[in-house]
This record gives sequence, structure tokens and C-alpha cells, in this order.
Amino acid sequence: MKVEGWEVNPPAHLRSRLDVPALSAHISIDMTDHNELFSAQMAAIGFVPPELPDEQPKPEALAAADRTTRYWTSPHIGRLRAGSPAHQHEVCRMFRETFNPYRPAVIAWPKLTADMRQRVTSLPIWDIAVHTEGRARLRFASYAATIQAPEARDAVMLNAWEEHRHKEVLGNMVKAYGITLGPEPAYRVPRDPEWMYLVTGYCECIDSFFAFGLFELARRSGFFPVELVETFEPVMQEECRHILLFANLVAGQRGSLPWWRRIAFELRIVAAWFYIAWERLVLARSMKSSGMGTGQDSNFTMTSAQAVTPVEIGVRDLMMLCLQENDRRFAGYDARFVRPTMVPALARVALFLTRPWARRSVEKAPDEHSAAGG
Ligand SMILES: [Fe+2]
Ligand SMILES: [Fe+2]
Repeated sequence: MKVEGWEVNPPAHLRSRLDVPALSAHISIDMTDHNELFSAQMAAIGFVPPELPDEQPKPEALAAADRTTRYWTSPHIGRLRAGSPAHQHEVCRMFRETFNPYRPAVIAWPKLTADMRQRVTSLPIWDIAVHTEGRARLRFASYAATIQAPEARDAVMLNAWEEHRHKEVLGNMVKAYGITLGPEPAYRVPRDPEWMYLVTGYCECIDSFFAFGLFELARRSGFFPVELVETFEPVMQEECRHILLFANLVAGQRGSLPWWRRIAFELRIVAAWFYIAWERLVLARSMKSSGMGTGQDSNFTMTSAQAVTPVEIGVRDLMMLCLQENDRRFAGYDARFVRPTMVPALARVALFLTRPWARRSVEKAPDEHSAAGG
């Protein structure tokens, strides 16, 4: 692959067949070191991590990489029907060709003023963020090992590797600013990797949707240094690519199954959403009992919003910002690909249902104004 001003090796190599005995020989269920486990997973699948430049690239090269990662249209002529070989091939190709070759180790973390340092270190998200990335890489790698189609397997494995890189970026930042993390929870190799892939993928769809809005809010607020916000920009766009890949692989599987197997697959998806809802409820309760947030997921999002901006923002405005950012981040990719739709659709329904409250607060505002004036 060539990015203007930057030489990088292709992020993955295609292989023809999965070597199952070699795979089991590499991984043992009692591997407690997660980095060791991830290396074993990569070796088992035969995945060669992409080579990255040793130094921080020049600004023009960074700008070129940014364009490459954000805009991609397939040269394929005609429809790309989810479930067809052409669709799978083009989706995997998009994922390979939009790879951004930044190296976490060469990121220069900006010096923070005492105020900013306090803001960054007190955000209640670092433990969850680092552990989530760590778990996602292992789960995606477990699923990749079960995929028979080499191109799709490599795409999911590259996704896993990018989660590993997110963990490194966050880990380096946490170290640079002296934030201490709690111990990483134990990881169990999933007995059903497809189920874990669905759960992790849909979790990413939810988290990314809100993260897009919160990130934009943080950027606009000037509450954090521009350099720090810019450092996380490629991570945000990568999450967009991840959920685009996920939505298309799921749609591809849907489209390729005969109707009787498709029913079972749809039921799995419904079950995954229920499982996530239950997991989130448990998380919200445990955060409430440990004094973080207020016990409801939407309120956790609002707590985060208050932590990234000095301006008060309502739930509806935040939701609208999330929708705008979601649309903007996906706009550069081939329009024939499927987009993740569930979370934006729920946000639109929530906005529609809360319209009477929005009208009431607009009507109330002038009254308050005149009362204040009188
Ligand atoms: Fe990630
Ligand atoms: Fe991701």
C-alpha cells in the first residue's frame, strides 16, 4: 500500500487456508498475560502486523494519510449486494486501503497546564477505555481465527490489531500524564467467538456513536489542548471504519444465508442486543454504587459531556450533535456500503418523542427572559 510521502507495507497478507492445529498449538486458555495472548493469536492466524514508520511523519504525509483513511470509493461498477462475493471483497479492500499507518510510540504528548492536567486525569473513563480496547482486540482475534474466507479473516484481524494500537495510544497517554489504572480484568477465550464478535461489534456501534458527539464537543469547547484532541482524531475515525466493517460483514452474512439459517442468525442478533442492554444496566449500577455517574447510561453520557465542556448542553442537543458527527464521519465511504443504523435510528426516535419538551422549553425561555427583565 502507498500513502503519499509514506512507505508502508500492506497491513495484512492473504493466505489461502486456516491452519486449525497450528492455531490451537499457539493458544492456551491459561495465558494470563494479555499481550502474550494477543501475540499468540496473531502467530496462530499467521497475521503479520503492518510495518509502521519509525519517526513522526511530516505534516503533509499526515494530511495525506488522513485523506486516505476518510475517503474511499470502490471502482466496482454496479450494485454491491450484501452477501455477494463482490461486496465482501470490496468491503475488505476498503478496510485495507484506508489503513492509517501512525505509530503510537512516536506521538509527542503535549505539556498540560495544571488546570488541563486536572481535567484530563480526573475524567472517569481511562480504566474502562483501556480495558475495553484490550478486550476487543482479543475477542476480534478469536473470531478472526474462525473465519474461513482469507480476506474477511485478515480484515477482522487487522481490526483486532488496530484495537491493540488504540490500547497502546491510551496506555502511553495514561503513562505520560501519571494516571494510574486498575488491574486488567481476567480474560477468558470465548467458547463462542461469533457471539462475542456480535456483542463486541454492537457495543462499538453504541460507544462510537456517543463518542463521536462527545469528541466534537471536547474539540469545540477548547477545554483540552488542540494537540491532544488531534492525537485522538485518527482513533475516532478508525472506530468509524471498524463499525462500518462490522455492519457490512454482518449484512454480508445475513445476505448469504438461506432463510432457515437466517432466522437463527437474526435471533442471535436480537439476543446480543438484549445481552448488551443487561450488561450496561449492571455497569451503570456498579458505577452508581462506586459514585460515578448517576446510574443511567444516558446520564453517564451527560456526565461525560459536562466533563468535556464548560458550556451546559442538553440531552437533545448532544444527541443531535452525535447524529451530525455520525453522518459526517461516514460520508466519505462508498455509499453502496451498509451503515450501522440501529443506534442513529434510536436517537432519531428519542428526538422525535421528546419534541414536546423541546417546544415547551423554547416557549418558556422568553417568559423567563421577560421576568428577568421586569
Ligand atoms: Fe478501539
Ligand atoms: Fe474499534
